[in-house]
Amino acid sequence: MQIFHHKSELRDRIESLRQEGLVIGFVPTMGALHMGHLSLVQRALDDSQYVVVSIFVNPTQFNNKKDLETYPRTLDADIALLKTVDSKKILVYAPKVVDIYGQTLKTERFDFDGLDNVMEGAYREGHFDGVGTIVKRLFEIVRPDCAFFGEKDYQQLLIIKSLVKKTKLPVKIIGCPIYRELDGLAMSSRNTRLSLQHRLAAPFIYKTLKTAKEKFGTKSAKYVTEWVEDEFKLQDLLDLEYVLIADSETLKPVKRKSIKKSYRVFIAVYAGDVRLIDNIALN
Ligand code: PAJ
Repeated sequence: MQIFHHKSELRDRIESLRQEGLVIGFVPTMGALHMGHLSLVQRALDDSQYVVVSIFVNPTQFNNKKDLETYPRTLDADIALLKTVDSKKILVYAPKVVDIYGQTLKTERFDFDGLDNVMEGAYREGHFDGVGTIVKRLFEIVRPDCAFFGEKDYQQLLIIKSLVKKTKLPVKIIGCPIYRELDGLAMSSRNTRLSLQHRLAAPFIYKTLKTAKEKFGTKSAKYVTEWVEDEFKLQDLLDLEYVLIADSETLKPVKRKSIKKSYRVFIAVYAGDVRLIDNIALN
C-alpha cells in the first residue's frame, strides 16, 4: 500500500499506472473505515487493477459545526483495516484541507435536477453542493475509470451519477449494496458514537423498514409512511426526522403506485445526538 498526502505525488503515481494501461478504481471516503467501506474497496479491487481510497473529512458538506468537529478521525486504524485486503493494489490519498481547497473553502453550486430537494438535501442545507464540490475535485485529481459508492447513501449515489452526466467526466459510477451489522443496523462511521442504550435501540430502524416493505405490498405509500411514523412515536430512544417513500430514480414522493416503477423507503433517525440514515428497496 502506498500513502499520499499531496495531490501532485498521487497524480504522478496514477499517471504512470495509467501509462501501463492499468484500470484505476476509486473509493472516496471520509475515513473511520468499517466493513461497509471495505466491501466497496473489495468490489473495486475485483473490478480494477489499482484502487485509490481517499480519506478526507470534507468540511464543505457539513451543515453542522459540531458534527464536523466530532466526526471520528482514525487514520492509523483505517490503514490497518485496508491492510486486511489485497493492499498491494491500494493507493491511499489522505490530504489536508489545504491540499484540496487551498486557503478558502469554496463550495460550487450544482443543479441536480431536483434530486437534492428532498431528504438529506432538505434537512442538511448545502450538503449536496459540498458533496458535489469534493467529489468533482477528487475525480479531477484521481481521474479514475470507475468509482464505487454505497447505496447506504442512496440519494448521494444518484446525485453523483447526475454530476458525472452533467460534467461529462469519463468515470463509470457503480452502486454497491448496504453492508449491515448482524442485527441489521446499517454500518456507519457514526455508529461508534452511539451510547450502549442507543446502540441497542438502533436495529429497530431496519426492522421497521423491513415491515414497511411487507406492508407496501398491499397498502398505499401514505398508509405505510404513517404507520412508520406511529411506530417511532412509541420509541423513547429514537427520534424520527423523516420517512419517505419515493421513486428510486427521481426520488419524487410516491402519489399513486405503478407496477412499472421501482420504489424505496428512506429514513433518518436521531439516536441521542447521532443521526442515522437507512433505506431499502420496496419492489
Ligand atoms: P463516507 O460516509 O465515509 O462513505 C464513503 C462511501 O462508503 C459512500 O459511498 C457510502 O455510501 C459508503 N458506505 C458507508 N457505509 C456503508 C455501508 N454500511 N454499506 C455500504 N456502503 C457504505 O459518503 C461519504 O463518505 C462522503 O460523502 C464522500 C462521498 C466521501 C464525499 O466526501
